[in-house]
Amino acid sequence: MKRLTLLLGALLLTAAALAQTAVPPTVRIAHGPYVLNVTEDGFTVVWDAKADAIGWVELAPMDGSHFYSAERPRYYDSHLGLCRVGRMHRVRIEGLQPGTTYRYRIMQRGIVLNEGNRRVILDDGDGSEVYRRKPYTIRTLDPAQEKVDFWMVNDIHARDSVFQLLIKEAPEAQPDFVCLNGDLASQTETEQTLWDACLGSASKILTPAGIPLAVTRGNHENRGAYAQHWLDYFPTPTGETYYTFRRGPAFFIVLDGCEDKPDNDPRYYGMGDWNEYRRQQAEWLKGVVNSDEFRAAPVRIVLMHMIPGKEDSWYGEQQIRRLFVPELAGKGIDLMLCGHYHRYHWIDDGSRGVDFPILVNSNNDCLRVSADAKGIDLKVVNTAGAVIKQHRIDKK
Ligand SMILES: [Fe+2]
Repeated sequence: MKRLTLLLGALLLTAAALAQTAVPPTVRIAHGPYVLNVTEDGFTVVWDAKADAIGWVELAPMDGSHFYSAERPRYYDSHLGLCRVGRMHRVRIEGLQPGTTYRYRIMQRGIVLNEGNRRVILDDGDGSEVYRRKPYTIRTLDPAQEKVDFWMVNDIHARDSVFQLLIKEAPEAQPDFVCLNGDLASQTETEQTLWDACLGSASKILTPAGIPLAVTRGNHENRGAYAQHWLDYFPTPTGETYYTFRRGPAFFIVLDGCEDKPDNDPRYYGMGDWNEYRRQQAEWLKGVVNSDEFRAAPVRIVLMHMIPGKEDSWYGEQQIRRLFVPELAGKGIDLMLCGHYHRYHWIDDGSRGVDFPILVNSNNDCLRVSADAKGIDLKVVNTAGAVIKQHRIDKK
């Protein structure tokens, strides 16, 4: 009898151990979040889970209450009414008040078991900290804001340590946003690439400080096995890599110069259709520069990774000059900000067919811009925090 009891006990313990190992661990947040597309009434939050999960954002006002004092409204990462199952999550929150700061946290529940219509089991969930740390905050746009301050870095090419040095003062300086102007990595091979390149650091340094991102696609973002997932990371109002946004007095046009060599270059393996994409953008640009929003803005700035070329430039730059420049010249653009050359250039000699200055930022400096209805101040700041170039554009 004693032997039987022992055997039964051992069997029960084994069964309990097996049951324990059968339950997978809670799916944790892998990277992020970071914030994009801040408007007067909303913003977009993006993060990455370690395994398949559904995700949502909870929102709370800045009313002095504890985040846990009430059930907070949820904004799901859903599409066509169904929560999206996956690792990358993006949630658009809308219907907010302008010029107002909100608190938020990201939440997710991992998929423990998915037997389709028969049974789906979610785990107990993971989320950003609101107990030991302050919840994240973000401020919606204030239409009365008369000045915009923003920073721009480009051509990081996965040198995350350089990126960290370039943006480390941002939480204290509080720019309205940080622009990543292309070539975050050299090729996007996996889901991890962009996080390792600089997005993980951008999330850690900028998000707790309430600073959103504005992102342009560089030519290198077209390369690699995971390149097709760009919009999973950087959703835009247009669903394309070209779009516009307003911040304070400035209207921004974000353009995608696409690749730098001809579409049939062997390096693109017959996968490129960038001539057509640039043509499509040029058509769209006609409408943008004739819009009331563009015309009414006191300041107009173009953000693009590549640069309108000279006669002897590479193919992509020549196409930008042929297709984009005619739509931009004579339309009242104040400034174009680019990267790509990995060296600083100030081009205001009309050599690129435009009637506005072009600042090409190097791959090792941060450009800090302040703009209002009177003009634009530009400072190029190196990794040591020293101002190495300065420009002033007075509005006529
Ligand atoms: Fe580059």
